[in-house]
Amino acid sequence: MVNSTLLGVVLLARHGDRLEFFQDPLTYNPTQTFLTPLGSVQELQLGSFLRSEYLDSSSPTFIDGISSDVVNINQIDVRADAGGGGSVILNSVYGLLGGLFPPTPDNNITLANGTTVTSPFGGYQYIPVESVEPNLDISLNSFTSCPNFDNHINQFYASEPFAAEAAIAAPFLQQLQPFLGNRSTDFINMFNIFDFVNVQSVHNATFLQELPPTFAAQAYGFANFHENGVFTDASPGGIGNIAINTILPSIFTSLQSFANASNPLKIALNEISYKPFISFFNVTNATASQPLLGGIVDYASVAAIELHDALPEPLVNVRFKNGTTDPTFHDVPIFGQASVPLSQFISTLAPNAINTTKEWCIACNQTTLRGCSVFSL
Ligand SMILES: *[C@@H]1O[C@H](CO)[C@@H](O)[C@H](O)[C@H]1NC(C)=O
Ligand SMILES: *[C@@H]1O[C@H](CO)[C@@H](O)[C@H](O)[C@H]1NC(C)=O
Ligand SMILES: *[C@@H]1O[C@H](CO)[C@@H](O)[C@H](O)[C@H]1NC(C)=O
Ligand SMILES: *[C@@H]1O[C@H](CO)[C@@H](O)[C@H](O)[C@H]1NC(C)=O
Ligand SMILES: *[C@@H]1O[C@H](CO)[C@@H](O)[C@H](O)[C@H]1NC(C)=O
Ligand SMILES: *[C@@H]1O[C@H](CO)[C@@H](O)[C@H](O)[C@H]1NC(C)=O
Ligand SMILES: *[C@@H]1O[C@H](CO)[C@@H](O)[C@H](O)[C@H]1NC(C)=O
Ligand SMILES: *[C@@H]1O[C@H](CO)[C@@H](O)[C@H](O)[C@H]1NC(C)=O
Ligand SMILES: *[C@@H]1O[C@H](CO)[C@@H](O)[C@H](O)[C@H]1NC(C)=O
Ligand SMILES: *[C@@H]1O[C@H](CO)[C@@H](O)[C@H](O)[C@H]1NC(C)=O
Repeated sequence: MVNSTLLGVVLLARHGDRLEFFQDPLTYNPTQTFLTPLGSVQELQLGSFLRSEYLDSSSPTFIDGISSDVVNINQIDVRADAGGGGSVILNSVYGLLGGLFPPTPDNNITLANGTTVTSPFGGYQYIPVESVEPNLDISLNSFTSCPNFDNHINQFYASEPFAAEAAIAAPFLQQLQPFLGNRSTDFINMFNIFDFVNVQSVHNATFLQELPPTFAAQAYGFANFHENGVFTDASPGGIGNIAINTILPSIFTSLQSFANASNPLKIALNEISYKPFISFFNVTNATASQPLLGGIVDYASVAAIELHDALPEPLVNVRFKNGTTDPTFHDVPIFGQASVPLSQFISTLAPNAINTTKEWCIACNQTTLRGCSVFSL
């Protein structure tokens, strides 16, 4: 943590607990799933935690000048990935916002006739959320319908480290097979195997009772290897890191807005899946010192990219909280440092950024879907 005035924060938040989620291991095309009441509670708790960090004037990371009771909608920008399993991510962000800016009787208005009216549910605060539709805006869900990313996945599946890990996992997957219904135990299906085990362990009492105690953690470990290979790249600007490289432009714009005293923005909240987290920690070299960040972060995890006031220019630092069971933020060194000047943060990452749909179409070799047909590439 940097010990000076906080100018603003970009938040990357993962959705909460949901039902089973199948993704095609060759394309990561998703199927429909649903947020559970537990997931909504986890997001509300995350929002309350963030409120205590950023909106409580006694917190060392209180955001300078923020309206902390009744929201000022010019100070917060909220976007949610509308791809990936239907409404899970969008519905998650409403839970988070409910904790960040809870209902307050101060959310009232006095009418001309003298009557004071408080908004519904004891002063609920309706905060605008941009639903980022994958067919209109590639930024939060850039890893599907991307042929070059599919090639990257195939190359990973054909690689030597993949074969070696698959061989290590094989005896375990054989033991796990009776618990998996008819699901494929091919190692390329490892995310779906883990997800099934994880979801059943949370929601199915019989399954939880019958599954040997170490199996869930073992499945998690193998899935982490699998997803790390899919959502990273030997080069920070490589296609394997596309999940974060399409979000970078909005991160830069938000941080620059925080640094600009005439711009009201103070919080930029991006509600997303686990994938951009893996790529983010890869392109910022965070995993060099904290290898666990290379895995699937828990539900309702958050990465905070903070901008602190400093001379000659503001400093960027990152903190991470690993889901609901993790009680606090943890400092995450980026590029081997506790914090970096804003201009350095941007100049280091900017060469990797995918700034427009057209750049995405080119990076992916996509010529028809996701708005690419209008460009003659
Ligand atoms: C309405 O909100 C104001 C603050 O904006 C507060 O002082 C007042 O107590 C509220 N009125 C009611 C009836 O809650
Ligand atoms: C004032 O206007 C509101 C909204 O139209 C209405 O509900 C309320 O009954 C009115 N109060 C009085 C005292 O007329
Ligand atoms: C597994 O597949 C077999 C044959 O295709 C089918 O009869 C059976 O119902 C399936 N079991 C489950 C749990 O889906
Ligand atoms: C719960 O788990 C048991 C044991 O694996 C399985 O037989 C059953 O079909 C599962 N129930 C549901 C609703 O998935
Ligand atoms: C700062 O923000 C204001 C208001 O949004 C804008 O007009 C101005 O161009 C910004 N300055 C810089 C240097 O970006
Ligand atoms: C980023 O990912 C690549 C490919 O998996 C890996 O070789 C590299 O070591 C990772 N970088 C860091 C800092 O962990
Ligand atoms: C997050 O917590 C899970 C346990 O719920 C653990 O397996 C994982 O390694 C943790 N990740 C980090 C980055 O600490
Ligand atoms: C990130 O780490 C790699 C080695 O893993 C190093 O070559 C590279 O210079 C580092 N990048 C930055 C910006 O610190
Ligand atoms: C995106 O913009 C940055 C400057 O902010 C630039 O460095 C980068 O090369 C651009 N990306 C592409 C693919 O042109
Ligand atoms: C791009 O995709 C087309 C098929 O749509 C294929 O013919 C071509 O070889 C691909 N280009 C590259 C560089 O992969």
